[in-house]
Amino acid sequence: MFKEKFHEGIISAKQFDRDDIEFILKKGSEMLKIKNSNVLEGKILATLFFEPSTRTRLSFESAMYRLGGNVIGFQTEDVSSVKKGESIADTIRTVENYADCIAMRNSLEGSAKLASRFAKIPIINAGSGSGEHPTQALLDLLTIKEECGKIDGLNIGIVGDLKYGRTVHSLSILLSNYDANLYFISPRDLSLRNRYKDYLIENQVKFKELVNYRNIIESLDVLYMTRIQKERFVDMEEYEKVKSSFIFTEDDLEKTKETFKLMHPLPRVTEIEPSVDKHKDKAVYFKQTGYGLAMRKALLAELLMD
Ligand code: NCD
Repeated sequence: MFKEKFHEGIISAKQFDRDDIEFILKKGSEMLKIKNSNVLEGKILATLFFEPSTRTRLSFESAMYRLGGNVIGFQTEDVSSVKKGESIADTIRTVENYADCIAMRNSLEGSAKLASRFAKIPIINAGSGSGEHPTQALLDLLTIKEECGKIDGLNIGIVGDLKYGRTVHSLSILLSNYDANLYFISPRDLSLRNRYKDYLIENQVKFKELVNYRNIIESLDVLYMTRIQKERFVDMEEYEKVKSSFIFTEDDLEKTKETFKLMHPLPRVTEIEPSVDKHKDKAVYFKQTGYGLAMRKALLAELLMD
C-alpha cells in the first residue's frame, strides 16, 4: 500500500519502484478529471518554504484546497523563527503539532531527509538544495505519459544545468525504472555528477552525454530544458560563462518530429525563446504546470486519506 510504504513521506525519487510510479501516474491521471472533492476535509498541510517558489508551493496549496483540506505555512525564511536561529529539527518538531503533512523546500541538500528523521507526520521534499525534487519528477513523468502515451522506448533529451538542477536528478532516477534512451546535454562544467551517473549505470540505463542537441534533435520524442541554477554558483564569472549555453528557438522546433514535446520545469529565463510558446502542440511546459496540480492532488490524497 502506498500510504504505508510512504508513511515517512516523499524524500527521494529512489523510494519509488516501477509499480509505485505506475500507481501514482494512474491516480494523477484520474485527478485530471476531478476538479474538486472533499476527501481531505479536516486535514492540514503545512508548506514550509525557505527558498523561492511559484509553481510548487501554489500547486501544493491549491491541491490541498481542491481536495477539501486546509493550508498553513510560510513562503520565506524571513518570517519564520529560523531567522532567529531555530534549527530545522526544532521547526519540524513544532509544526508537526499543527498539521498532518509538511511540504518543505530548503537550500540544504539533505534537508528533507533530516526533517523526516524528526517528524512523526509525512514530509514531502519540495526541493532540497541542488539535490532532489521528487514530486516535480513525478509530474514530469505524468506529463510524458499523458502527452506521449507511454514512457518506455522514448528518446528523451535532458538539457541545461545537470550538475545543480534538482529536478533533473529526480527525473533521471525515476526514468531508470523505464526502458528509455536518455541524452544528457550540458556544458562540460555542468554535467551530471558521478553519483547520479553511477546510479544509472547500476540500473542498466541507456544514456549518452553530449554538449549539444543539434545532431539528435530530429530523433527526440521529448526535450526537457532546464534553467542554469544561478543561485548555486559560488563564482558569478563561472555563471556568466555558461548562462546562455542553450537557447531553444523556433528553428530548432521545426526540425523536430510531429509528435515531439518540449518540456521545462520552469521558471524559464532565456533558454526557450518566447516565440516557441505559441506552438502549443509541441511546447507543453505551461500545460506541464497543470499536470503538476493533478500529481500533487494524487500524492496528497494517497498520503493523507483515511
Ligand atoms: C525548479 C526547482 O525549484 O528546482 N522549479 C520548480 O519547482 N518547478 C526548477 C528551477 O528552479 O530551475
